[in-house]
Amino acid sequence: MPANNAVRDYLLTRRSVGSAFLKDPGPNAAELEQMLTIATRVPDHGKLTPWRLVVIEGDARRQAGDKLADIAARKIANIDAAGIEVERQRFLPAPLTIGVISSPKENPKVPEIEQLLSAGNVAFNLVHAAHALGFAASWVTRWYAFDPEAAAMLGTREGERFVGFVQIGTPSVVIEDRDRPDLANIVSHWA
Ligand SMILES: Cc1cc2nc3c(=O)[nH]c(=O)nc-3n(C[C@H](O)[C@H](O)[C@H](O)COP(=O)(O)O)c2cc1C
Repeated sequence: MPANNAVRDYLLTRRSVGSAFLKDPGPNAAELEQMLTIATRVPDHGKLTPWRLVVIEGDARRQAGDKLADIAARKIANIDAAGIEVERQRFLPAPLTIGVISSPKENPKVPEIEQLLSAGNVAFNLVHAAHALGFAASWVTRWYAFDPEAAAMLGTREGERFVGFVQIGTPSVVIEDRDRPDLANIVSHWA
């Protein structure tokens, strides 16, 4: 296989772009389908398909935010009106958010950790897919990935959990790089 310099350069420079800087346009229906196709082309021991995706776009962003604000108002201690408004607008800045759900299957050979890792791969592949189609993205979890009531409202079923939400849109800024780990500290050669 020949070297693919475009992929290499992308992987060397990719940066997450937070939802405040993800603007319209978002992907159209055909682009979204292609992104989802790329995202789900991941290592999956036993071909269990141990993940699902929930697309939050268009008017659903406002409806999901309203429900999230209601849950936050009830469950988050000392939350004030401004905090509730933050939750109401959670899904509004980015044109599109895709929730990635780990949906592990009973299997004697494939432990749950492997299935969870496969779901993580879907989330990061979705980030790559967004970039491949000319968008930017960021992977977040936030409190509603871990709160069972909020997670169920957003799409989890019994035995499932969110591995995160991938926010996608057109970047409105160029994000400066952050420090990256020094390979000398994290790589060793077995001997
Ligand atoms: C599982 C997971 C959950 C994350 N959740 C959040 C989050 O809730 N909020 C946040 O600001 N960043 C979160 N991040 C970090 C961003 O995805 C991203 O890695 C970070 O902004 C660094 O950007 P980079 O991809 O350019 O290195 C999370 C990352 C992972 C892997």
